[in-house]
Parts: sequence; C-alpha cells; structure tokens
Amino acid sequence: MMLTVNPFSILAQTVSPIYMQAFVVAMVLLIIIGTLLDIIHKKNVKYFFQNAKKAKLSATKTLSNGERLAVISKTIVSDIATTSELGAGKRRVAHLLGMYGTILFWLGSAIMIFCYSSTDAETPSLWPIIWHVGAIMTVVGGGWFWFFLRVDVYSEAQPWYRIIKADLFVLALVASSFTGLVWSYLQTLNLNDRWDDKVFLVLFIVSNLILFGGVYWSKFAHMFYKPGAALQKNLAEADGSRDNLPPEADAPKQFGLGISREKPKHY
Ligand code: HEM
Repeated sequence: MMLTVNPFSILAQTVSPIYMQAFVVAMVLLIIIGTLLDIIHKKNVKYFFQNAKKAKLSATKTLSNGERLAVISKTIVSDIATTSELGAGKRRVAHLLGMYGTILFWLGSAIMIFCYSSTDAETPSLWPIIWHVGAIMTVVGGGWFWFFLRVDVYSEAQPWYRIIKADLFVLALVASSFTGLVWSYLQTLNLNDRWDDKVFLVLFIVSNLILFGGVYWSKFAHMFYKPGAALQKNLAEADGSRDNLPPEADAPKQFGLGISREKPKHY
C-alpha cells in the first residue's frame, strides 16, 4: 500500500541519503535567500517597523502584559492557525487544506529524509501517511483555489487556463505535491527496468527547484509576512492607534438595494 511506504527509503537503493539531505538544506537556503532579497527589494519590513512606530504615537492606551498576551494568542489561534482573514466559506477551507497539507508534506519529507532514509530503515507508517495525506490535501486545496477561486477567474472572468506570474507559487506548490505523489506511487509498483518513476522523480525535483528557487518572484513569503501583519493590526486595534485609520462609523449601514442582489465579489 503506497500510503505507508517511505518513498525516500526506496530511493536510497539508488541515491545516497546524503544527497537527499543536501537537497533539503539547499531548499531551506533558497527560502532564506529569496525572502531576504524580497525584503531588501520591497523594503516592506522597513516600512512595517516605521509604520508601527508612527502608529504607536497615536495609541490611546498602554497595553498590560496580560492584554498583549491575549492579543498574541488570539492572533495565533484565529489569524494564523485558521486564516480568519479569509472569512467564512470555501476560500478559507481551500486555504486551510493547502496550508496544513503543505506543512504535513514538508514535515514528513524532513523527518523521512533525515531519520529514515537508509535502505534498512524501519519507517513508522505514521510518517509516510502524513506525507501522502499532506500531498493530497495540498493538491486538492491548491487545485480548488487555482481552478475556481483565484481572483482572475472568480471575479474577473478570465479563463481558468490563463497563467500569469502571480500563479507561480500556487502552481509550483501543487506541482511539487502532485509529482511527488505520482513518483511515490510508481515506485511502489517496482518497475525496476522501466523509466516512469524516474521521470516523475525528475519532475518532482524540478518543481521543488521552481517552488523554492522562485521565492523572490512568487508569493511564497506571504507565509512569513501575513502573521506579522496580523499581529501588528490586532495590537494597533487593542491600543487604539488603529494604524492611524479612523474608527468604524457608528451609523446605519445603508448601501442601497443592490447590496443584497449580489454578493460583493468584484475587487
Ligand atoms: C505553509 C503555509 C502556507 C501555505 C502553503 C499557503 C499557501 C497559499 C497559497 C497557495 C495561496 C494562493 C496564492 C495565490 O496564488 O494568490 C495563498 C494565499 C493566501 N494566503 Fe496563504 N499559505 C500559507 C500560510 C498563510 C498564512 C500563515 C496566512 C495568514 C496569516 C495566509 C494567508 C493567505 C491569504 C490571505 C491569501 C490570499 C487568498 C486569496 O486570494 O483568496 N497564508 N496561500
């Protein structure tokens, strides 16, 4: 059964685990380099701290440590762990599937490659299951987002097959999970003298190189920026500085009849 087989330990029959481990380290380095270059190029972190400092001046109250802790906990549980920014509905469900799928897939990869990748390793079946389930969740969540929910298709009537630079992250992410799954499946068929599994191993490697090598150009780093921005927003709300924005109007919501005819989805 494919789900319980560690694909990296089969691979170890032909490729030494040290190469797999070096590949993982290289991917981590690519994430760090790509994110740092992005931060230097966009100056977003610099702006973020300037803005936070400026906003502090208009704070109407000093938060106690307890209050600060409450805001941090709420940010972790709501904004980060359940992507509350996306509201209720399929957009959030698709994101959660992709996000947790990816976390499981990467965790499973790291554990199997670093702890159980020698040919005689006995991998507890939990890890291959985590890896395969994570990959399936990523393909389902990412595919759902890309085919149906991304803004060009959902709101701007672009055909689903139009691909632009903004699709780099989601497509490379889905491709790496998908090719990983197919590679693992073909390997368990024991096609020793055939080439199918090797083709998918190459595609798996290439899609990972694109995913991690593309950090500078893709939306990859949002997984680091979004939590920081959410924390800042929640703290600014709690201390009354509100990022120097006016408070919500205390007035009845009168948007005319059109608002109930169609859900707002034209961004
Ligand atoms: C392993 C972590 C994560 C993964 C794999 C992931 C994956 C994705 C993907 C594939 C997209 C679609 C990108 C696009 O093409 O527009 C996306 C969008 C988004 N992500 Fe994440 N994400 C992660 C973490 C987070 C976190 C921690 C937050 C918030 C705190 C977040 C908030 C968002 C938001 C708001 C969008 C825009 C959604 C939309 O356009 O409907 N993500 N994420």
